[in-house]
Amino acid sequence: MKVAIIGGGGLVGSCAAFALQCGGIVREIALVDVNAELAGGHALDLIHGSSSTGDQKITGGGMEVAANADMYLITAGLRRKPDESRLDLINRNVELFKKLLADVKAHGLKKEAHIFVVSNPVDVLTYLAVKDLGLPPCQVYGLGTVLDTNRLRGLLADSLQLPPTQVQALILGEHGDSMVPVWSAAQAAGLPLDKYPGVTTQVLSEIEKRTRGSGAEVIKKKGGAGFAVGIAIRDVIHAVALNSGRILPVSSLMTGQYGVRDVCFSVPTVMGRAGVLKTYEIELWPKEKMGLQASARVLRETIDKVLK
Ligand code: LAC
Repeated sequence: MKVAIIGGGGLVGSCAAFALQCGGIVREIALVDVNAELAGGHALDLIHGSSSTGDQKITGGGMEVAANADMYLITAGLRRKPDESRLDLINRNVELFKKLLADVKAHGLKKEAHIFVVSNPVDVLTYLAVKDLGLPPCQVYGLGTVLDTNRLRGLLADSLQLPPTQVQALILGEHGDSMVPVWSAAQAAGLPLDKYPGVTTQVLSEIEKRTRGSGAEVIKKKGGAGFAVGIAIRDVIHAVALNSGRILPVSSLMTGQYGVRDVCFSVPTVMGRAGVLKTYEIELWPKEKMGLQASARVLRETIDKVLK
């Protein structure tokens, strides 16, 4: 599989490239950036390490290196300021995003290609890509709450002194302020998280708050997310490349799940070579379901503003 990383010069794009290189699964990684020299520099740096990682082809430059890609990973775009919400970005990023999609189309988008959106606000831009490109909706998806879910697991493990890979917790809905942690299903090592020593409602709500603000916290501390977003991207791309059927909270077009339609956001989604294979609508606590519906309303209002 050939993955073209649009915005491959930036922190998110280059960290995704490194995660894909260390993962050693995809056959070709093309870093594309308006700053073609920077993309070329990252590609060169990756090539320097390639004899120890895997037999992958790595290129970098302008849009021409994306030719014939099986997947376009879109990470390009402006970044929010620490005190801005992801939705505040919309006015600045939509025009840029539309131009980018036109550019991708002009450079020979295959009809079986996938579009994987990471730029923010990711759910709104994923929806625009579904509407704009005319690809089957299963081939257009966004990172959604995959990153928030990993953040929640990592922070839970860190504060409760649990092994990170054994913490199971999930966030659904918007990748943004209205995200919905699914506490009804949180576990560690197969046992209910809320039964572990030291776990109280207050502890969980503090960790939830920190997770919700994690994007802003890393922007403040180091300019933006890099390593964790790269790993989250890798998880999705490997599920597609390996046709593994992993269930991940990617963002895709809703068709009635939890009573929500015609917006993109995250629900449990089975990912494989064709993209979004199916979604599950597992019963949640009523307040979680209401949280999802509120999240959908926030997104719908933004989409209406953008499309009018
Ligand atoms: C974040 C960006 C990737 O949450 O949305 O850090």
